[in-house]
Amino acid sequence: MAYRRLTWPGEPYPHPVRVAKSDDPQLCAGYLAKLVEEVLPPEGRVVIAVSRKVARLWEKDFLKPLRDYRPDAVVLKLPDGEERKNLDELQEIYRRLLRHRIDRRGLIVAIGGGVLTDMVGFAAATYMRGIAWISVPTTLTGQVDAGLGGKTGVDFSGGKNMVGAFWQPKEVFLAPVLLGTLPIKEVRSGLAEVVKTGLALNPGILRTLRRTGTRVLENDHELLVKIVSMCAREKMTVVAEDTTDKGRRAVLNLGHTVGHAIEASGGFQRWNHGQSVAMGLMVIVSVAEQRGKMSAEERRQTEELIGTLGLLPKTAPDPVQTGRYLTLDKKMVGNQLWAIIPGPIGQTEICPIGAEELLDERHWAWRQNLRRVR
Ligand SMILES: NC(=O)c1ccc[n+]([C@@H]2O[C@H](COP(=O)([O-])OP(=O)(O)OC[C@H]3O[C@@H](n4cnc5c(N)ncnc54)[C@H](O)[C@@H]3O)[C@@H](O)[C@H]2O)c1
Ligand SMILES: [Zn+2]
Repeated sequence: MAYRRLTWPGEPYPHPVRVAKSDDPQLCAGYLAKLVEEVLPPEGRVVIAVSRKVARLWEKDFLKPLRDYRPDAVVLKLPDGEERKNLDELQEIYRRLLRHRIDRRGLIVAIGGGVLTDMVGFAAATYMRGIAWISVPTTLTGQVDAGLGGKTGVDFSGGKNMVGAFWQPKEVFLAPVLLGTLPIKEVRSGLAEVVKTGLALNPGILRTLRRTGTRVLENDHELLVKIVSMCAREKMTVVAEDTTDKGRRAVLNLGHTVGHAIEASGGFQRWNHGQSVAMGLMVIVSVAEQRGKMSAEERRQTEELIGTLGLLPKTAPDPVQTGRYLTLDKKMVGNQLWAIIPGPIGQTEICPIGAEELLDERHWAWRQNLRRVR
């Protein structure tokens, strides 16, 4: 089989997920063209909405072959970067769709990182009260997390994803071969979400990473196919249980309470999302061990893995400074908030926790080794 259709418990599925196993991008473009054919509404027109950067990197081997299959497609090259994930860009997308006379029978194929699939997915959710779309994430973060599950949106008034909708794509097409051009920084950022997924939901993911060491950083295609498939299946199991984010989906926020506070305390510049999540995971596994939920050995293995993969930055945030942002957390009630605590690996519990416990120096001891672990 050229691509594997993933399965998970909980039919009916919010959307199907296919993983292209081939390391030939032109073949992958052919599979995608076939999927487009299958889901295109009668007399509908295809719009390929692609990140400019991805278009540049993948023009010859992926985009052109895709266009050759669909010469009728309208191609929209869009800027990406978090600072462009806003209502102005969204309006520009609407204008271009209108200019090309795309109507409700249209199908948008969104090809890019999480910023692009979030924004284009939201355009699909709202244009003419909603048209069909296919999500084709091209970053590791996108393939294991952002591109799956139908949460779409843009940033607004300083808040991330403040305006958005649940709008399920008709298909999610994962082609790990496209990860071949990702800068190492982006690979590491995605790996933080991979470690999160393993820690929260499936110890097998962490075992695979431990066994293969740094191979995942060297663009080992077979390994990426395996990791992307495992993580996508875990995410979809959770999404199937809680499509509209009323409870269970919160487990995907493991490491993110502290992570978000660290990211904000660095002005979203100093530490990127993946580094912030990795540090949030370091804190929370320490809390988990102290609360007797995780064994010392499991904690050590997790910390070692995060170190081996180089997910931590060279400079450390300060818990006191982080605390200021933690107390701004929307989920905070008094001085208590709810955090996902892992342990044993693959399981979690949502527990109330005081900010002072999360900020306790002992859970930040890993900072002393930042230079050494790299
Ligand atoms: N919808 C959800 O459930 C969900 C979940 C997690 C994150 N998100 C969102 O996802 C976004 C982060 O996504 P991201 O980490 O993919 O960032 P991103 O979309 O900014 O992509 C990171 C960088 O990689 C580039 N890029 C993309 N594909 C590439 C490729 N194949 N080769 C080389 N470069 C490539 C992009 O142009 C960009 O410069 C955030 O806006 C976040 O809010 C959404
Ligand atoms: Zn995240």
